Amino acid sequence: MSTASSIESVLTEHRVFPVPEDFQAQASIAGLAQYQALVNEADTDYTAYWAKLAREKLQWTTGFTQTLDDTKAPFYKWFADGELNVSENCLDKHLGTPTEHKTALIFEADDGVVTKLSFRQLYHQVCQFANGLTALGYKVGDRALIYMPMSVQAVVAMQACARLGVTHSVVFGGFSSKSLHERAVDVGASLIITADEQRRGGRSIALKPAVDEAIALGGCDAVRHVIVYARTGAEQAWHDGRDIWWDAVVDGQAMECAPVAVNAEHPLFVLYTSGSTGKPKGVQHSSAGYLLGALLSVQWTFDAKDDDVFWCTADIGWITGHTFITYGPLAAGLTQVVFEGVPTYPNAGRFWEMIQRHQVSIFYTAPTAIRSLTKAAENTPECHPRHYNLSSLRLLGSVGEPINPEAWMWYYENVGLERCPIVDTWWQTETGGHVITPLPGVTPLKPGSCGFAFPGMDVAIVDEAGEEVERGKGGFLVIRKPWPNMIRNIWGDPERFVKSYFPAELNGYYLAGDGAQRDQDGYFWVMGRIDDVLNVSGHRMGTMEVESALVAHELVTEAAVVGRPDATTGEAVVAFVVLSGDVPAGDEAKRIATELRNWVAKEIGPIAKPKEIRFGENLPKTRSGKIMRRLLRFVANGEAITQDVSTLENPAILEQLSDAY
Ligand code: PRX
Repeated sequence: MSTASSIESVLTEHRVFPVPEDFQAQASIAGLAQYQALVNEADTDYTAYWAKLAREKLQWTTGFTQTLDDTKAPFYKWFADGELNVSENCLDKHLGTPTEHKTALIFEADDGVVTKLSFRQLYHQVCQFANGLTALGYKVGDRALIYMPMSVQAVVAMQACARLGVTHSVVFGGFSSKSLHERAVDVGASLIITADEQRRGGRSIALKPAVDEAIALGGCDAVRHVIVYARTGAEQAWHDGRDIWWDAVVDGQAMECAPVAVNAEHPLFVLYTSGSTGKPKGVQHSSAGYLLGALLSVQWTFDAKDDDVFWCTADIGWITGHTFITYGPLAAGLTQVVFEGVPTYPNAGRFWEMIQRHQVSIFYTAPTAIRSLTKAAENTPECHPRHYNLSSLRLLGSVGEPINPEAWMWYYENVGLERCPIVDTWWQTETGGHVITPLPGVTPLKPGSCGFAFPGMDVAIVDEAGEEVERGKGGFLVIRKPWPNMIRNIWGDPERFVKSYFPAELNGYYLAGDGAQRDQDGYFWVMGRIDDVLNVSGHRMGTMEVESALVAHELVTEAAVVGRPDATTGEAVVAFVVLSGDVPAGDEAKRIATELRNWVAKEIGPIAKPKEIRFGENLPKTRSGKIMRRLLRFVANGEAITQDVSTLENPAILEQLSDAY
């Protein structure tokens, strides 16, 4: 852990935007008094608070009698003797209500083709696919890996797994076959659900061939079937007996399928995310607790109402797509947009045009998208949001990384037209749902701040000893009490779970891995990661993962990876590399750098490609051989190193690396 005092806190933002009166008047949590009442309720009797919400918000097959079991902390259990089915809570519960015939999904493909499904139609598709899975022998406890494009089928696949109690593990379609392989083996998948190809920005990207490659790497012996959804119809190499088309799975299947009641703690999914070692962590979530958090986040943070049209632009490969596409909005009975493409195709007005076309009222995206669209609107003025009718919007959201006040202001003025509150939501794969966020009917907004704790979340900023720091001081962001939608374990690695999230010196608090501070008004300001994890375009990237990929290349003997602030992607990956031969220069250096960048894309995925690679004959190390990444950060930023470097084994190397660009 780096020290709390090293967390810089430069706060120059003083603007405050009051809660619009008309928004507050209609909000589900309206005004500070209502927020405070919830906070007090949780303070007074924490478990009673969550028990009441769990009974009110979820449909139980068997009600629970025990709310929190902390006897094996930090392996907490919530509602542990209760049973329910998550898919039933997202679909069946709407049957026989007016929501049954309401549009659930408005799917817009990369080429602009729109498909709409009502809740009833979605329910039937999920049932048919679930019946198909049952016919193939899949049942509760099995693990299915899902490697799919954004599509109706991706949502159907996840929901069908949930319906049967099959634990899913979605792998982002941009990950390589190597990454896919690592996850399939770790989770012990017996089923892989994929598509022939995906479409992005007018291009086709193969998916099924990556699955074939992953399986060919060996160790996936548990995999019995690969189900392939024909997205583009591209010809495929076929493994008879193992591969099966999506249509063949659902063909002739009944349109009803009884949901399988599972224990509240049954793992709904495992989602891999980066940590500070080379191996991604399989974050294991529960069924009941997770769903409760997802639903509350939709209802409270997004103030969702029956006539809203919700659009979360995330991919289902990330936690945001799980919570704010597949589970939360469906459980809340919302109409939502699901999008296959990219924000800049066919032009940088795509998001604004889609908001106009589908009358989106709640829009949730990432700062990196906002920053790139700000730039695009300058370069191609015809794509500026002012050319679109965005009057349907009433609320905006941001997620994934700190939003800088400039990007916030642009979003507020140009997209929200100074009418729409912005909820800057801080949370993580591990938290399952929102942890710190403004509530739009409660919180006056400060650009760049995530506001206050979500009602029921006990968030604090502490020093190395777990003591709360005073306002205005930086420290570690922790969550002091367990919460229903928290991570349950790291799949197959309980030791790492305890070590990563509940270090002994922090009194059993959950350590988020972010540095933060609170201002005098109590607003939280998240400063970024305190571990070796980068945030590139809102995606978590372990520096060790990229380093392991680089050293796996035959030319590389050593590599150190650090982050550098980037105006568009938030952070950019910079790699310092030592080759087995001489330090290359000129065209040779360029050629090898390109080769290594492509290598990383192949090993992990294009999102992990270093933006810059510098070669040196060594890396800065202490006399005991530890690489001084802190110094490399200065070098990557082009900053002067002011601190004493005499403890280094080889101080001259810093100069070489500074020049080596
Ligand atoms: O550093 C924080 C940053 O993203 C990390 C979590 O990444 P991931 O698990 O991939 O989930 C992203 C989507 C929830 C956090 O540790 N982060 C996320 N949201 C914010 C943020 N940093 C600042 N402000 C946010 N709103």
